[in-house]
Amino acid sequence: MIYLDNAATTMHKPEEVGKAVLEAMNSLGNAGRGANTASLGAARTIYGAREKLAAFFHAENPKQIVFTANSTESLNIAIRGILNPGDHVITTVMEHNSVLRPLYEMQEKGVELTILPADETGSFSYEEMEQAVRQDTRAIICTHASNLTGNLVDVERVGEIARRHNLLLVVDASQTAGVFPIDVQNMHIDILCFTGHKSLLGPQGTGGMYVREGVKVRPLLSGGTGVQTYNKRQPEEMPTALEAGTLNGHGISGLSAALSYLEETGIDRIREREQELMWKFYEGVREIPGVTVYGDFRTKNRAPIVTLNIGDYDSSEVSDELLMTYGISTRPGGHCAPLMHESLGTVEQGSVRFSFSHYNTEEEVETAIRAVRELAQD
Ligand code: ALA
Repeated sequence: MIYLDNAATTMHKPEEVGKAVLEAMNSLGNAGRGANTASLGAARTIYGAREKLAAFFHAENPKQIVFTANSTESLNIAIRGILNPGDHVITTVMEHNSVLRPLYEMQEKGVELTILPADETGSFSYEEMEQAVRQDTRAIICTHASNLTGNLVDVERVGEIARRHNLLLVVDASQTAGVFPIDVQNMHIDILCFTGHKSLLGPQGTGGMYVREGVKVRPLLSGGTGVQTYNKRQPEEMPTALEAGTLNGHGISGLSAALSYLEETGIDRIREREQELMWKFYEGVREIPGVTVYGDFRTKNRAPIVTLNIGDYDSSEVSDELLMTYGISTRPGGHCAPLMHESLGTVEQGSVRFSFSHYNTEEEVETAIRAVRELAQD
């Protein structure tokens, strides 16, 4: 099988990741719930992963890294935990439903939204973003890269806008954490939400968030923490404040191994390889008659995603054909990005997304180009 659905989940992981999970399952206890060897082993493993993530994202302190199950959980904690009725929020049509749905629910509770439109290439205007700031604006919530088009957002520029107007900046780094450099200090990011199972190369069920020191986030959950047992309220110290219940120590152990792999291999090397494969595919398909590619390909730096349609064929039919005839895995349909599809005019048809990993090969890309060419000729 040629796996080109890496924006959904990276399937090829460094072998150390699986080994670390297995070892953890056979040796770790429950972190923070005792002082036995197994419990301390879990606490050490989790703290080690926290330290690695803090260094990875340039957080001021490992305590500002919170573990969650995925980006969706992190974004829910962030969006529900910082907004109040009467607040105004700026977001974009590039967002995934993990941003949009919690925001729509907050809208029902009295939060006002400005959703910035996109141009024909799927990107919003930074000038319009700044013009949208009002007296009551509390936050900008936006993605680092569209999961549909791969268009990258200049988060540093968004961070400048947020800083100038004293707004909170929440960034969805689902498609970038692991391969694109993220410096929460330089980029003025107040809350960074990430998942472990995509470019961070960890297991599903791992993810987290960085919360800037001093930013108050109401917990989504309260419960067991292993500390302050007789306190009726969730402890306020970070990261415990946002980590009720047993953490996924086994998964975090795998994520920690993945972080070491990324560090040793170098994320620049990985990103450049993925972008090379993406550009090869793009150049191979862009001029095939009947093929429409979506997104902004004017800048070299973009997430390794190419989304396209062939004539007016339904994207699910094309994706099925790619799998059945050529053994190529892609993702068709709406990609949980309803506003981006509305903006591109692809709501009915959906689109077929090819997303690349550094483990993919040139030959796999060539097969995918040939497959698109042959399907377009049918
Ligand atoms: N959000 C993931 C995707 O884009 C699942 O496919």
